[in-house]
Amino acid sequence: MNTWLSIDNLGLTEGSTRIIDSATLTLSARRTVVLGPNGAGKSTLLRLIHGLLHPSEGTLRWSPPLSQAMVFQRPIMLRTTALANVVYGLKLKGQKATECEGRARQALMHVGLEHLASRPARLLSGGEQQRVALARVWALEPELLILDEPTASLDPASSREVERIINDIAGGGTRILMTTHNLGQARRIAEEIVFIDRGRIAEQTPVAEFFKLPRTAAAQDFLQEEMP
Ligand SMILES: Nc1ncnc2c1ncn2[C@@H]1O[C@H](COP(=O)(O)OP(=O)(O)O)[C@@H](O)[C@H]1O
Ligand SMILES: [Mg+2]
Repeated sequence: MNTWLSIDNLGLTEGSTRIIDSATLTLSARRTVVLGPNGAGKSTLLRLIHGLLHPSEGTLRWSPPLSQAMVFQRPIMLRTTALANVVYGLKLKGQKATECEGRARQALMHVGLEHLASRPARLLSGGEQQRVALARVWALEPELLILDEPTASLDPASSREVERIINDIAGGGTRILMTTHNLGQARRIAEEIVFIDRGRIAEQTPVAEFFKLPRTAAAQDFLQEEMP
């Protein structure tokens, strides 16, 4: 597998806290799930990778540079229709106005929401809003999609639906880098698990092996607590 991102000695310090501490990591898998206890630094790592935060030290080396998009736990919806929310994302990326609406409708269809295209996005349920957010990134066809706990505030049915959409996006060739609290979901989506503990990369392990026998004591403790 080709390495698409090399992270070398990445660090982020806020005040006297080392939030990310000397992270060195090579990403080659097409579907990577970052796991770790609350406050371990998962969201911070993803934000550093997406360029939303500046590292205190270290480097990210992309080969090649990838177009990327990010989805958060709570979708950010503009005060307009579901369709216009998707169109907006395309316009931001400089898509021709004449093509935006067709592509946006197609993306809404992919997430099963074409019938809600003209509804005000903010009146949709949490699960529907997350699907609009996924339609927005789907329309952009990013080479890398980063998701930070995309199903954390959803009920199980919506969560499975979002998971299906993530799998479909991955099937279209988009690389996936995500975090989740849901270990079943991690198992179903990931090829590889990156486990973070207190700001440090503890291990990077193929998914089957991670859930059978993680290499580090920290990950063993984590799995025992989460799956007693
Ligand atoms: N801007 C900040 N300033 C100070 N501490 C922060 C900041 N952002 C995050 N943290 C702390 O860094 C740690 C890691 O946060 P986060 O990346 O959100 O963890 P996770 O996503 O794994 O739960 C937490 O202890 C959090 O409180
Ligand atoms: Mg987080």
